[in-house]
Amino acid sequence: MAYELIVIGTGPGGYVCAIRAAQLGLKTAVVEKSPTYGGTCLNIGCIPSKALLHASELFEEAGHSFAKMGIGVPAPTLDLKAMLNFKQEAIDGNVKGVDFLFKKNKIEGFKGTGKITGAGKVEVTDADGKTQTLEAKAIVIATGSDVAKLKGIEIDEKRIVSSTGALTLPEVPKHLLVIGAGVIGLELGSVWRRIGAKVTVVEFLDGVLPGMDGEVRKQAQRLFEKQGMTFKLSSKVTGVDTSGKTLKATVEPAKGGAAETIEADVVLVSTGRVPYTEGLGLKEAGVKMDERGRVAVDHHYATNVPGIYAIGDVIVGPMLAHKAEDEGVAIAEILAGQAGHVNYDVIPAVVYTMPEIASVGKSEEDLKAANVAYNTGKFPFTANGRAKANQQTDGFVKILADAKTDRVLGVHIVGSDAGNMIAEAAVLMEFGGSAEDLARTCHAHPTLPEAVKEAAMAVAKRAIHM
Ligand code: FAD
Ligand code: NAI
Repeated sequence: MAYELIVIGTGPGGYVCAIRAAQLGLKTAVVEKSPTYGGTCLNIGCIPSKALLHASELFEEAGHSFAKMGIGVPAPTLDLKAMLNFKQEAIDGNVKGVDFLFKKNKIEGFKGTGKITGAGKVEVTDADGKTQTLEAKAIVIATGSDVAKLKGIEIDEKRIVSSTGALTLPEVPKHLLVIGAGVIGLELGSVWRRIGAKVTVVEFLDGVLPGMDGEVRKQAQRLFEKQGMTFKLSSKVTGVDTSGKTLKATVEPAKGGAAETIEADVVLVSTGRVPYTEGLGLKEAGVKMDERGRVAVDHHYATNVPGIYAIGDVIVGPMLAHKAEDEGVAIAEILAGQAGHVNYDVIPAVVYTMPEIASVGKSEEDLKAANVAYNTGKFPFTANGRAKANQQTDGFVKILADAKTDRVLGVHIVGSDAGNMIAEAAVLMEFGGSAEDLARTCHAHPTLPEAVKEAAMAVAKRAIHM
């Protein structure tokens, strides 16, 4: 069967690529080895984690915040099975949505593992071992990423879990030991803490969320500690003894030194993800990889083999669903003869804890390292009317603008709803806007985004409410 495009993998990169290609008139097929479409994001990533974050946040609110608002309800009780079912419904709804969109756009789906067997040839092996070969002018690899393994620690997805197991624990662990204070550790650590677990996070570096703005990292850590999370920084887990009823983790200073033992019921390994290329036949096909095992591509997502392209987590760049989606659109447009493009300077990142942590563009550390002169405007949510009304005043907005041109170079937000607020910063930056542009844009009152406007005013030292 001949197609103009075959996409291997149907995560946010692959399924969006297929839809955009079909919209542009390309005869498109997708190959997916999992029983359902949607990839990591819809099945075991963004969507299920956000469903549990939402449910657990309301659980915590019901227990702690309702009474002071005059809402008298009995102390909430946890029905974990129902909460996990709520999460499953979120997955099912989203996965069905992708099915629907494939049908609507006349995209043919093949369930099985795809292997590139030559120029324009993909062999698909289904669950029963039956194979068929598809042919296409172009192949897009969108096979995503997998959990990074930790040497000497065997993930069984029951007691020693990755994010996948941490989304389906059948009971709340008394003590959850998280390895890695990155996005997954903090999001899923928050979920289980809110519904009753004691959570200890062991982090190799000297702070949480490496890579984010330094001030944001410090504030975030303080807030998570206030919520009851314990951090063991500059430390590493070197082994987990699984022989007893509770797990015994050996924790050492990162630089070496005396070890201590931490007992836990469940250990979550969240030390990053690695590109997934197993079984794709890339070596045989002659496709080059980079030094970190990612598929090497040029600015147009082309590999060194003509007709083979790659996007999403499997190539360079942040492992984020929206980055994969935008690359999916870009490559489809390029293959259809248009000028597809992604602006890597404006990719927002959000940690969906409470408060949320969101950023786009450069951090102060980035700008200092690049010797760029900048002005800073900061505004705390304690001075924002709506945040005060809701009694959700943790956090701040920080805007970094070029000292000469006032162009906004980075925006960082710690606060309730930061993930939604970062969008206006991204739009502004996409248009090359200045802090003054943002400061002179009328924002509805009373809203949290007024803090973004005030931070923009603070760049020129003229914030009103501070
Ligand atoms: P994937 O979504 O990984 O999809 C790849 C697909 O390819 C899979 O379905 C796989 O089965 C299939 N595949 C692989 N090999 C083959 C083969 N040989 N043949 C056929 N099919 C194959 N990102 C965000 O932006 N926001 C979030 O809130 C967020 N939350 C996350 C929470 C968790 C717990 C995790 C683990 C990740 C989260 N991410 C989040 C990251 C996000 O899931 C990824 O960045 C995104 O899924 C990458 O999309 P992708 O299309 O590149 O790959
Ligand atoms: P991460 O890269 O965000 O964090 C890993 C953390 O583990 C880092 O702080 C790192 O210093 C630490 N670490 C590494 N090795 C260690 C060791 N041996 N001992 C102790 N600590 C160690 O990776 P994470 O949290 O696993 O998430 C993977 C990716 O998934 C993220 O980078 C992100 O791209 C994506 N994701 C995005 C989400 C979002 O956008 N909200 C949510 C969840 C995941």
